[in-house]
Amino acid sequence: MNLLRFDSEAAWAGAVCSLWRDRLRLHPDMKICLPSGATPSVIYAEMARSVVAGQVSFAHATVFVLDEFGGLAADDPGKTSATLRRQLIDQIDLPPRAFHVLDPDRSDLARHCADYDATIGAGFDLVLLGIGRNGHVGMNEPGSPLDGATRRVDLHSDTVQSSARYFAHGNLPRWGLTVGLKTMLASKEVWVIANGAAKAEIIRRTVRDAIVPSNPASLLRRHPNCSLFVDGAAASMLEA
Ligand code: PGA
Repeated sequence: MNLLRFDSEAAWAGAVCSLWRDRLRLHPDMKICLPSGATPSVIYAEMARSVVAGQVSFAHATVFVLDEFGGLAADDPGKTSATLRRQLIDQIDLPPRAFHVLDPDRSDLARHCADYDATIGAGFDLVLLGIGRNGHVGMNEPGSPLDGATRRVDLHSDTVQSSARYFAHGNLPRWGLTVGLKTMLASKEVWVIANGAAKAEIIRRTVRDAIVPSNPASLLRRHPNCSLFVDGAAASMLEA
């Protein structure tokens, strides 16, 4: 795992965007897996500006959502796909048919998840991941299998609580669908992004402690081309 540390959040976001623009220019048809949420918001805002400014294009790319909450109304604005649309997809030139989402309302979820994996193929060209304070990546909670496929998962109670900021109501999701660690590990490149002091402890555990299933992010150290992008606050416990 390559550790890339930046002085400020602006430098951190700028570096991720710069490399991402570079990848897109070299491989316009890249297949990308994206999270939603707080962490990528400044990165997505900069990427959207880059597209509007004509610096880069998603016209030939394909984007898959990393995960989705279950048990919500179909039009709940807190769904990850809805958030990702607002944060990025609606502002870039990605063709609508090239945006793939997970639908937790399907009656045959196992089939739906298998179809999602079949559409992805062997892996992504690039996976962007946030990291939960318990080490989850996507909705792969502690204890998730290395060979896990896209599937239905129960959310850890910490994840349920921390999802409250995405919802105006108290009906917090208890489960979801997620791309599995198997597909992440089979992808060409994985970028884990973390900012802010709240992530400092899990970043220290992920980088310094053992590779263990109880911290799914640590399992990504087995990936030959995984980079961890941190700002100064998220990196603050690495020296100790
Ligand atoms: P956050 O979530 O970006 O909202 O901090 C990261 C995660 O839980 O995966």
